[in-house]
Amino acid sequence: MKRLITGAIAGVLIGTFASVVMDTSPAYADNHAVIKQRIELMRKGVLGNFKVIKAFAKDGKGSMADVAAAAKGVEAAAGKLLPLFPKGTGRPDYSDKETRSLAKIWEDWATFEKANNAMATHAAAIAKHAAANNADGVKASFGMMGKEGCGGCHKPFRGPKAK
Ligand code: HEC
Repeated sequence: MKRLITGAIAGVLIGTFASVVMDTSPAYADNHAVIKQRIELMRKGVLGNFKVIKAFAKDGKGSMADVAAAAKGVEAAAGKLLPLFPKGTGRPDYSDKETRSLAKIWEDWATFEKANNAMATHAAAIAKHAAANNADGVKASFGMMGKEGCGGCHKPFRGPKAK
């Protein structure tokens, strides 16, 4: 916990954000636990909901209510993501098998944060379009979320899968 807070403050985070980290983050047993937790959030909170929206946008499956709920799920996940990346919890400090996070995350935190904000903003737009029963809006915002959110972050900051 102390390491997490120190990392957040010493790193690139602004003061207000550091206090958010202190207020809300659970006490991680260690960095292995925080790595596990963020991958879990990516799989369930992000990808799980992403798939629901994709099924609608690409194959016309599911309802607008499903889409709205899933989009809110992505937005909520984005709100939890950043504190799960304390400084020094990527490659090469941890093995390629354990994490795909690249050290570049902490060298260019502003871009990392921007991609996360893009994911949240486009997810919010998807929820809004779904509530208005606007399928074209959902599709357009879904495309932007994939491009600027997932892609905008994975391309620069996520390394290849360990073999
Ligand atoms: C702000 C950056 C960022 C955004 C935005 C982001 N990801 Fe990720 N994602 C990562 C990083 C970094 C990892 C690697 C985590 C680790 O292994 O420590 C990751 C890991 C994952 C994983 C875990 C499995 C794996 O192979 O690494 C999935 C699934 C995933 N992301 C899906 C998505 C989807 C879908 C979106 C968009 C809706 C998304 N992510 C948006 C940064 C991001």
